[in-house]
Amino acid sequence: MPGIVIVGAQWGDEGKGKVVDLLAENADLVIRFQGGNNAGHTIVRDGVEWKFHLIPSGILYPGKLCAIGNGVVIDPKVLTDELDGLRARSVDLSGLRVSANAHLIMPYHLLLDHAGEARLGKLQIGTTRRGIGPCYADKASRLGIRVQDMLDEKILKKKIAAALEPKRLSLRPFAKSPELDLQSMTEEYVTYGHRLEQYIADTSRITWDTLDRDGTVLFEGAQATMLDIDHGTYPFVTSSNPVAASACIGSGAGPRDIDEIWGLTKAYTTRVGAGPFPTELDGAFGDGLREAGHEYGTTTGRPRRVGWIDLVALRYAARINTLTHLAITKLDVLTGLGTLRVCTSYRGADGASFANFPYHQSVLHQSVGAYEELSGWDEDITQVRTEEDLPAATRDYLAFVADFVGVPIGLIGVGPGRDQIVWTGAGRDSLAGRAVAQV
Ligand code: GDP
Ligand code: IMO
Ligand code: MG
Repeated sequence: MPGIVIVGAQWGDEGKGKVVDLLAENADLVIRFQGGNNAGHTIVRDGVEWKFHLIPSGILYPGKLCAIGNGVVIDPKVLTDELDGLRARSVDLSGLRVSANAHLIMPYHLLLDHAGEARLGKLQIGTTRRGIGPCYADKASRLGIRVQDMLDEKILKKKIAAALEPKRLSLRPFAKSPELDLQSMTEEYVTYGHRLEQYIADTSRITWDTLDRDGTVLFEGAQATMLDIDHGTYPFVTSSNPVAASACIGSGAGPRDIDEIWGLTKAYTTRVGAGPFPTELDGAFGDGLREAGHEYGTTTGRPRRVGWIDLVALRYAARINTLTHLAITKLDVLTGLGTLRVCTSYRGADGASFANFPYHQSVLHQSVGAYEELSGWDEDITQVRTEEDLPAATRDYLAFVADFVGVPIGLIGVGPGRDQIVWTGAGRDSLAGRAVAQV
């Protein structure tokens, strides 16, 4: 103990990388528990930017135990490239551990992801095309290839052959593609196995051992609540469970190992890819917000859709994750925007009002936000480090959010840099806050 979970409370890119980096300083283990290289987690230290797709956001502390848990799907090409990139920047990778039970993204998963989106045409989800969905589908079909399989060429080849068979029909145009050649695929993955072997481990046991000796474990979520395959805006979701409950499944920890659950939200909302977005802002104002927040995807570079903060969705996220704390990032981006709007209910197509997040897809698709207006502020807050120094209007804005959602705010982001944060009293009193040296 303690176990602290960090999850996205919106549609992703809330700043999980930054907060995990911050809290990782005194953590004994950071473990990713779901998703794959669809994630892009940014850390800015001393003006230098780092982007992580698979490697946990604690890796910049030399020797820090950083595990990729069993719930993650791993493209070994992306992982080895990411490792090479970090080595080239002299990052100490000795603390990295990769679950032997994690599933592997295979070349056919990438092809299937592309083909699936092309087939959907206008109805496409707007995936990152990294093979995430098809890989999780194979896992559920019990046709997945796991990290440990790379260490035994014979088994690997047999498993790939079995997994490839049902793909042949759907990938007919690629049937002769060298990418789908059984022998060369096997050899390629055996090579990855050799390169990754030193990191392969029983990450569940490492998690238990750390918790059982009273170490601090940070469970690093990827994607976010509203992209959850069960609880998000299905089918416009990812193929894993980014909600907090998944921290257990994807790492091997048990529910009683979790002590705090931090939900990250921006002070507004963004979404990449297709799907409902009741508070979306079109036009020049939205464009301005996108530019002010540099809202372009970390993984795909796509412009993110932007909108007002959605407190209906956020309250839903608070309940489903049983959030103990909120961390609000990018408050600085709202500076100078004039009167701010916060969405407190939805209005359906027929004028009906929804106080709660609607479970029905068609209702949600036709819903738009109904708002309350709050005063904005013009002061530059990027240098503010204490709650008292924040302008009154920002404090009112934050208080409104916390009251409405029913969860205390522990941390406020006022810029991309690792030091550009404000701890609140609730944050300082938390296990996460107490784990950070300079608080
Ligand atoms: P993640 O996927 O949740 O880790 O988030 P991303 O890294 O994809 O996107 C968040 C972006 O916002 C990154 O470029 C961060 O550097 C940046 N960021 C994080 N916190 C803040 C903040 O408080 N203010 C500003 N201006 N930028 C922030
Ligand atoms: P981080 O961890 C934002 C979105 C994609 C698409 C949908 C499904 O950086 O917050 P997928 O490739 O997962 O099958 O795509 O999910 N998506 C993300 N959006 N941040 C992410 O990760 C995302 N990972 C996937 O844009 O709409
Ligand atoms: Mg991201």
